[in-house]
Parts: sequence; structure tokens; C-alpha cells
Amino acid sequence: MESSEAIRPEKMGPLVMKETWNTPGSIESWERSENIYIVRGERGGVVFVFLNDEMFRMKVFRSSVPDLTTSAAVLAESCVPHLFPVEETEDALIFTTSAIRLILEKTSFLLRVENMEGKVIMQQNLTSWNPRGASHAEYDMQPDSHFYGLGEKSSFLDKRGERYTNWNTDVFAPHLPEIEALYESIPLIIHMHGDLTYGLFLDNTGRSDFDMRSHGVAFTIGCSTGAYDIYFINGPEMKDVVTRYTSLTGRIALPPKWAIGYHQSRYSYMNQQEVLQLARTFREKRIPCDVIYLDIHYMDEYRVFTFDPVNFPEPEKMISELKELGVRIVPIVDPGVKKDPNYEVYKQGVLEKHFCRRLEGDIFFGEVWPGISAFPDFSDSRTAEWWGDLHKYYTGLGIDGIWNDMNEPAVFNESKTMDLDVMHFNNGHPITHEEYHNLYGMMMSKATYEGLAEHMGGERPFVLTRAGYAGIQRYAAVWTGDNRSFWEHMAMAIPMVLNMGLSGLAFSGPDIGGFAHHTSAQLLVRWTQMGVFFPYCRNHSSIGTLRQEPWSFGEEVEGILREFIGLRYRWMPHIYNLFHEAETCGLPVIRPLILECPRDPYVTNLCDQFLLGENVLIAPVYRPDTEHRSVYLPEGCWLDYWDGEVHEGGRHILADAPLNIMPMYVKAGSFVAEGPLKQYALEETEETVVFHLYGAEAREGFSAAFTLYEDDGHSFGYRRGQYSQIDVQAAGEAGTLRISWSYAVREFTPRREMLRFALCYPSFFTQSVEGLSEISLEQLKEGRRGWARNGKSGAVIIQVDDDPEGGELRMEVAEQQPEHFRTL
Ligand code: GLC
Repeated sequence: MESSEAIRPEKMGPLVMKETWNTPGSIESWERSENIYIVRGERGGVVFVFLNDEMFRMKVFRSSVPDLTTSAAVLAESCVPHLFPVEETEDALIFTTSAIRLILEKTSFLLRVENMEGKVIMQQNLTSWNPRGASHAEYDMQPDSHFYGLGEKSSFLDKRGERYTNWNTDVFAPHLPEIEALYESIPLIIHMHGDLTYGLFLDNTGRSDFDMRSHGVAFTIGCSTGAYDIYFINGPEMKDVVTRYTSLTGRIALPPKWAIGYHQSRYSYMNQQEVLQLARTFREKRIPCDVIYLDIHYMDEYRVFTFDPVNFPEPEKMISELKELGVRIVPIVDPGVKKDPNYEVYKQGVLEKHFCRRLEGDIFFGEVWPGISAFPDFSDSRTAEWWGDLHKYYTGLGIDGIWNDMNEPAVFNESKTMDLDVMHFNNGHPITHEEYHNLYGMMMSKATYEGLAEHMGGERPFVLTRAGYAGIQRYAAVWTGDNRSFWEHMAMAIPMVLNMGLSGLAFSGPDIGGFAHHTSAQLLVRWTQMGVFFPYCRNHSSIGTLRQEPWSFGEEVEGILREFIGLRYRWMPHIYNLFHEAETCGLPVIRPLILECPRDPYVTNLCDQFLLGENVLIAPVYRPDTEHRSVYLPEGCWLDYWDGEVHEGGRHILADAPLNIMPMYVKAGSFVAEGPLKQYALEETEETVVFHLYGAEAREGFSAAFTLYEDDGHSFGYRRGQYSQIDVQAAGEAGTLRISWSYAVREFTPRREMLRFALCYPSFFTQSVEGLSEISLEQLKEGRRGWARNGKSGAVIIQVDDDPEGGELRMEVAEQQPEHFRTL
């Protein structure tokens, strides 16, 4: 006998239902409550919160006014509502700040943001939602619109014509331009049109979509669950947007210097002898290295917070031997905790209710490396603290950096992640995994960072993560996951990391050499040349692939890699300075040219070259058997780093690039701060700093300025004021050049007696330096005061006492240099 089951609706064929999308209708009323504005329409409304003159938040509501809690992305202190005047006309509500006017049309809820000259910065046309909880809005796009941001996405720099999804996903398949979602989700788009730029940040931790492809004159931003909670971030310049966005979601914490050294990894270094041998080889070969990673094989059957008793029987001994060599280890810690009643972490997690569960109370289990595993619920502060505290296992062994992987979370099942109906306790406000998903990885890294900091006695921790959400920069560096040893992936890493930088993630980078597939000598050389200028610099490769340690391809390759890795160490003061800038202003360490030259039409989608800071242009070679490449130099005068050749910018040049050279240019009239070549960042050598001034001119109007930030490089002392800041200036006059310096802050005293200035490729010949005698380079290296010529070239190196009071130098100079030569 059949039951009613026979007529289940799905047995009756496909059900065609037309989706209805609701809009708020026209405005019926508005009110001010506390410092927020609530505007009600026929079917819903919008809450407006002004954070300051340049940023406001709007949250759509369907029936009742939403609560205004934010996700963990947003810093509470940046989200304080401010009052601004509102004017009501017959047709519109008009909110005015000192920078923008927000005009909300009464009949349609159409929203326009104008600047004070009446130019339309942004227009949001249609906000709608469907009965299943998805929301979406449409924004005007101009013929000259360009889009940036969105964190870690494949394809080129300008996202016009692309469509992306934000849903943290473990993608081992080759990262292709058509892949819409990778490991990180930063729902921030930066829209530039004409001389206006603004950002929109959708604070939604579920699935969201940004479509700059399908709607002709509009682009859309939508989400499938949760609230439509969006922030408008004003420009007018892209730098303003980045600075403001990072004031909202936070900036990187200045990493310890060792974390910005060169890192070596492989899946996996299999035992402690191999790890020690690796460290010794770096030292014997004089290739600088700060960190060796321990991938999953260091653990006892992939149980986190353990070491394998056979292959890593004496971790403490290994770590202290490594420390003597100046090498740290960073072990991997995944969220999956092996289901094993004899395993303390699992036992505690179950007994103390730390694992993610379904509403009915059963733990969610999924398969990852250790087999069936449970996943901590980092949304619960109690669990986050427990997890953080577990890290004393590592800190007790002398470890101060952790690598968080598989934290999308990745699960070996069809959906590749946790079931969507799993609940996150969320400190008493439970939400489904569907709504929480993109936050999972970030909350793991937050717990890890805070746990490490707690147990490291005032030292700065380092966390590396694969998954993250907006704000992840506060806790972790980000690497771009499982790329491949493809030239295309090397090239794609540039726009990816540049857009990550524009999205607040100033500390990021790809696996140098490529993770999966097999690298080659040339690819490793070219990728390393580029990678040493990326903020995060790690060579990592997968199990079963060709080895790619720097010495894997013979002496020529090894020599080139030694030089370039060495260059990163010599440039460490400069790079560290840029990290400090990222911590204080949110600007990225490496930048697309469009950030520095927003009116240059040639750079809107230029992403096979980039800037380190403002003034150093890096043009990697990203094709095999290629010894030349076209380089675009923006306006200004640029010096070839390698031979000093002067190029007038605003045009393309053809650069020579034999295998041992990566084209690099320094803008004339800028400083680069170099330090000694160390084998590891915190090696205790003298901290000589050399201020290299490129292309100095002895003429009226020439000037250059630079500020170098310094601190101990490892503790949080700098947050209590223990740092120094030295301002350096150069000014030309006919026949002379003056260099002056002074300490704006000197609460930290670097380990050095002397300061050096190097004039690289000056346009003159130095005859004398007032008050100093000419000495030989050898005498200079021995630490004597004076000035020396570098061989036949016009390059001059001046050494003076590092006087806390600062000082001034005056150079008498003569005719133009006929040629340029490399400096020290
Ligand atoms: C993931 C990571 C990769 C790591 C591997 C083994 O694929 O992305 O970096 O080596 O897992 O832990």
C-alpha cells in the first residue's frame, strides 16, 4: 500500500516558482534615534550610521530595525555613530558632512553620494531582497570605471569585467582566472572613475557576490544570507580609501623582524635530522634564512599540539640547536582535532564543549589529515581562550610562530567544508555555519595570535594563515595557498598580492617557486627575485615535487638566489620601515602603480610590475628564456638600480634582464635605507644604517627626504614608546649638496656608533665634504669618520658619528659625472 509519500512534491516534477524580489518601496518616515538615522519605507528600510565625515554605514532591514552589532572585522572604536545635519526636501533626505552629501530619494530609496562640488561619487540604485534571505544592490558603473580590492582573487589587477564570490574555499585545483572563490574573503571593492574613488565594504560573513561583469552600466553586490550591511568609504584618492578602510578593520601588527626574513618550507621536512641539516646548509652556504616550517609530518599522526615520537623525538633539543644557528621553526596547526579518546586535546574539547555542534547537540565530525576530526568553535571566547592557551605547548618549547592551515575550514567531503547547518555558539548569539563561514579562519588565527602573545613574555608572535576575512591583517600574515610551479602562477601572484595589499592585507605573499607541480631552475630564480620584494617571503613546495631549496639547481642558480635573498636582508631597514608604515597608516608594503599615480592612464591595469613603497619599481621577468622585458616608468626621473642609467619616465623602456638581473629602478631624489648583510634578521651585528640617496643633484630646487623608523625588532616595547625615528633631508644648491639629519624620537638606541650616507649615481663629482677628510674605503669599513669614493665612480660614501643631536653635511661638488657606476 502506498502512503502519502507517493505524492511528495518533488515527485511531481520540477517546481517552477518565480523569485520575488522586494524593495523597501518609497520612504514613509524617518527618525533619529541616539546617533543613528532610521529611514522606513513601505516594505523595509535602511539604518544610516555616520562614522565620520568620510565614512557611513547602511544596514538594510526588512521588518524590524536591525541590531547594529558588527562582525569581528570591524573595530568597535571605529564604529561610533556621529551626528550630521539632515535636511528634508519634498523629494529627498539629504545628509551633509564636511566632505560628502548623501541624497536619498523618497520615491525609490535611490541613494546618491556627491562631493562638495556636486559630482556624483557613488549611486546605489536598487536594494532588494528575496524571501529566502538573499539581498542585493546595484551601483552605477561608468565607462571609465576600474575596480580593485577584493583581497585574494585570481586574474588581473582591475576587476572590471569579472565576477567573484566570497566563500572561503580550499582550492587545490589550479588557480585559474575563472575561479571565483579562494581561501580568503575580503568583501571590499574600490571603485575608481575619473578623479573619484570610493570603497564599499559589505560586512557579511556568509556567501557574497560582487559582479562587475553582467549588468552593463551597473555592478552589483549581493549576499545569500544575513544582513546587507555595507560601508561607504570615501576617497577621493585610492590611498584615502585604503587608509580609511584599514582604520575601520584594523592594520597589521608590526611583525617581529625575523618574520620578514626569508622562510624555507616543504611539505614536509620529515625528521629532526633533516631540519637541522637544512639549517646548517643555509649557514654553510651563507644564504640568509630565518625560518624553517614544519608541515604536517612533524606531528604524531597529525594530532595538533604533539610531535611525532619517532621522527621528532627531541623537539626541544632540535629547537635550541636551531636557535644557536639563528633559525626558528614555525609548525603547522590545523583546526581539525583527531577523534581519539586517548588524545588529551580531543578529550578536553569534548568534555568542555569546545567543538562545533549541530543545534541538537551532536558534534560535527569531518575528515581531514588526521582522519575523522572535530573542529573547535572559535566564535566562542571560552573556546578561543582554550585554544590560545594550548599554544603554551609550543611557546614552552621556544616556538614563537604558528602556521594556520585548512582553516576555511577545509573538510574532505563534497562541499569541501563544514555542513551549513552546524551552529556557532557566538558568545550566546548562535548562528549557522552558512552565515558564519568566512569568519572561521580569522577567529582561529585571532585565538592563536592572542594565545601566543599571552605566553611569549612581551615578544611579538607571528601567525601565518590560509583563510581569513576582513580584519585578518590584525592577527596574521596571509599566504595565497596551493599555487603551482607555473610561470602563469608567478605572474598572477603580482595582481593577487597587490589587491590583497589594497584590501588591508599588507603582509602577504605566494609560495615562492610554486607549491604543486615541479619548479625549474629558471622559474625558481625569477620567482625568488620577485619574491624577496614581496611582504611575505617563503619558498614552499608540495610532497612529491622536485626539491626547490635554493641550492637545488646547481651553483649558478644558488649564487643568484644568495644575492637576491641577501638583498632582502640588506634592504631590511627599508622594508621594516614600510611595515611600520603599514601598521600606522594601513598602506601596503608593495603597491600597484595606480596607487601612487592615480591619474596615469597607462597603469589602471598594470600588474606585471609593482612598487616597493613609493619610489622603488620592481619589474620581474615572468616568462621562461626571457632576457628582456618592457617596463613602464611613470612620470619622473628613474635610475636603473643596477647601473645607474637615467630614464625619463612617462614611457615604456626595454630592460635588459639576463638571468642574474631583475629590472629595478629607483626614483631620482629618493632614499633607500640599507643595513648590514645578516644571515638572519636579528643576528647581533653592528646596526650600521646606510642612507642611499639616488640621483642627487647639486642644483637649486633639488630635495629629498626620508624618515627611518627603528626599534628592537622583536618586543612590544615600541608600543610603549621604545623606538627611534630619524629624519634625513638632502637639499641642493648650485655647486653644493647639503644632507642633514635629526632624531625626531630616540627612545631606542640602535647598536651602532656611526651613520653612513651613500650617494648613488649622483649627477656630480664630489670634491670635498666640509669638516671631513677623504679616506679609503677600507678605513671607512674599519669605522673611521670621513668620506670615500667608491672606485672611479661618482659614488661617495660618508661616515659620521651617530650623534643623538643629529648633524649636517655640506659637499662641494664639480662637473657632471660622465658615467655611472654601481655603489657599495
Ligand atoms: C595544504 C596547504 C599546504 C600544505 C599542505 C599540507 O595543501 O595549503 O601549504 O603544505 O596542506 O599540510
